[in-house]
Amino acid sequence: MRAWVVFESMFGNGARIAEAIADGVRDTMPVEIHEVGAAPRVLEPTVGLLAVGGPTHRFGLSRPDSRRAAAQEVDVPLVSASIGIREWLGGLQGVADGTAAAAFGTVIEEPRWVRRLGRADRAIARRLRTLGFATVVPPESFWVTGMTGPLAEGEEERARAWGAELGRAAQARTADAADD
Ligand SMILES: Cc1cc2nc3c(=O)[nH]c(=O)nc-3n(C[C@H](O)[C@H](O)[C@H](O)COP(=O)(O)O)c2cc1C
Repeated sequence: MRAWVVFESMFGNGARIAEAIADGVRDTMPVEIHEVGAAPRVLEPTVGLLAVGGPTHRFGLSRPDSRRAAAQEVDVPLVSASIGIREWLGGLQGVADGTAAAAFGTVIEEPRWVRRLGRADRAIARRLRTLGFATVVPPESFWVTGMTGPLAEGEEERARAWGAELGRAAQARTADAADD
């Protein structure tokens, strides 16, 4: 089994989280990491685990207008300058029912009631399930300290551990299926 980690990131925070997750998944299987604009649009049959993540924009997934707003925050090009996870998942082909998947996202550290309003990781998990994926661990958010970052302390380590747990969960599920 191999894994893909597909991420969207404006300012690079989510890209670092995706790298850390991929590093953790690599404990159990080979991993390829794809920036969403460069990610293949057809899921290859040998990909048994897909992790998908992006930034929380306006309590959900980015849209073209929220990405334009992000571009105005910085003088450098955005990491994900073309499409977002919403568009990529909307056009994804080749999904075999029950393929293992997981969703992650980045959010600003805010009071709990604000976080409850909506988060990219949960929106992605819902979309993955609608497409026929089986989410094997709960969606997870990683914290940034402001609109453009940086990441809160310890979040890369937490992402690596989450990735390692995800790899183990996907592998255990495959082993269970083989026993049936
Ligand atoms: C247009 C826009 C809307 C945002 N809305 C939210 C929000 O609703 N909740 C939140 O926690 N963060 C929000 N943020 C902050 C993002 O969470 C933050 O920019 C992102 O997590 C940083 O990760 P990145 O560098 O990978 O893009 C917003 C950012 C932008 C640009």
